[in-house]
Amino acid sequence: MLVCQCNMITSKEIEDIVLDLLTADPWQLVVPAKVYAELNRRAKCSGCVPNVVDIIVRVTEKYHAQQAHQPAELVTLQSGLEKLKKQRNGVRRERRSTSHRAA
Ligand code: FES
Repeated sequence: MLVCQCNMITSKEIEDIVLDLLTADPWQLVVPAKVYAELNRRAKCSGCVPNVVDIIVRVTEKYHAQQAHQPAELVTLQSGLEKLKKQRNGVRRERRSTSHRAA
């Protein structure tokens, strides 16, 4: 479907660019200007920008939904801290021995 009549940009082209940008950096903020820059074009009348934003939102939500881990795979903050605490027990936190400590 043609989204931008001024530049003859289709929704498929926009979706592909958004996916490429998200693949490069999943947490970057994709905005219409970035999409136009990737296509080496500029918005002229900007009448298509709301539709471009809708496509960006839809593709970004779908991308992150596909990347989401199952709840069982997620590590909660508390269990992560406990694991780090166990790993650090018995490990000297400073590289010098206790006899060299000032306090
Ligand atoms: S319709 Fe896209 S810039 Fe005019």
